[in-house]
Amino acid sequence: MKITVVGVGHVGLVSAAAFARWGHDVVGYDDDGAKIEKLLGGQAWFYEPDLDDLMAEVVESGRLRFMADPRAALCDAEVVFVCVGTPPLPGGGPNLSYVEAVGRAVVEYAQRDLLLVEKSTVPANTGKRLEQVIQRESTRLGNGNRIEVASNPEFLREGAAVADTLHPDRVVYGTSSDWARDLLREVYATLVAEDGCPVVETDVPTAELIKHASNAFLATRISFINAVAQICDRVGADVEVVAEGMGHDVRIGPRFLQAGLGYGGSCFPKDVDAFAHLAAQVGYDFALLHEVREINVGQRRSVMEKLESELWNLSGKTIAVLGAAFKPGTDDLRESPAVYLANELFKAGADVRVHDPVALEVLAREQPHLPRVDSADAALDGAHAVVVATDWDEYKAISPETYRERLAYPIVIDARNIHDPGAMLAAGLHYHAMGRRSVTW
Ligand code: UDX
Repeated sequence: MKITVVGVGHVGLVSAAAFARWGHDVVGYDDDGAKIEKLLGGQAWFYEPDLDDLMAEVVESGRLRFMADPRAALCDAEVVFVCVGTPPLPGGGPNLSYVEAVGRAVVEYAQRDLLLVEKSTVPANTGKRLEQVIQRESTRLGNGNRIEVASNPEFLREGAAVADTLHPDRVVYGTSSDWARDLLREVYATLVAEDGCPVVETDVPTAELIKHASNAFLATRISFINAVAQICDRVGADVEVVAEGMGHDVRIGPRFLQAGLGYGGSCFPKDVDAFAHLAAQVGYDFALLHEVREINVGQRRSVMEKLESELWNLSGKTIAVLGAAFKPGTDDLRESPAVYLANELFKAGADVRVHDPVALEVLAREQPHLPRVDSADAALDGAHAVVVATDWDEYKAISPETYRERLAYPIVIDARNIHDPGAMLAAGLHYHAMGRRSVTW
């Protein structure tokens, strides 16, 4: 099939490469010429494990091409996937003007019948809005082609995006005609035949809600376990063992029960707010989601409190922040709790040193005021305290002795619960984790 993917961000680029892997003839289009330039040079413009290899394979076979000209990219497409950004607006709702612009562009350039598929996370009923845009523009421009809208939400995680896309837990699409449904069946035919993943076929608003409900539920699990961690801190229990004990119940399961600094990234914070906003718009106060957000932000405050309880005044103290990315396996800093924390420390007058194994370049670009160091050791040397803010494997390997030898004061705030409290105690460290018996003397 001839597929065009509009927007070559995390979702768009990985999806485009996967469609090409499944045998389709794919064009990746973006109005940001710099991104297209980089892709034409054979490289993804962001860090994502395994993506460069997959891209090299499909670009070489000629099944994935990149274009910055919308006419060339859209005129011959049978299916167009909308993967543009939907950044948050000040009121909590997402900015959908880029999505609308794609709706107008397909009508302007389509020269055949075409299915427009939302993949960006959008509020329920965006499909209806797009249909309206298409109808008005088709009348205005006299485009008589059949252009329908479908929803095919994406569930890939950054850092595992290639594996998630090639082996998804499920494929979900919502359509409003047999014609549209059959087109999407064809898009995913190879994947379903090879991988055997379940397929949920439904209508457009239901597909849109599946995405909202999934992300909001996962964020709720994280906030739930973080709230439990707060109680653990106060009663001297260990949240890691609580989560393990809960996770053995097959109705609960073990995943997304990792307590720590809370969730960040381009999806959860935005999606939780957008779902609450949508609920309010349709007359339902989804108070649970407000609480999910509050608990998430509260985790960061709790780390600041732990630091203040140890160091008293933060001003003038040297503090190593290990990690900048919102989670390991990515250089994405969007809504990163680690960056938030580094900025709070910076504002409090601390001498912050941030290290990250892959995100330092992005950090230099986006947060140039934050001092960076190019190794964990350099961050630790002579610091009054260290905060482990991202759970990179590299940090898990830091021994208690290394902390002991390099830090000026032996204070470790393990905001991602990556270390063994017993070993930290044995080395004589002031060790604070999140909801685990904090070890001091
Ligand atoms: C998420 C969803 O998982 C994915 O399905 C959706 O399409 C996009 O949003 P992503 O943002 O890439 O993916 O990251 P994810 O791995 O889900 O982690 C999100 C955040 O939650 C990270 O900051 C991570 O550190 C945090 N997290 C995750 C926890 O704090 N505890 C956990 O148990 C799991």
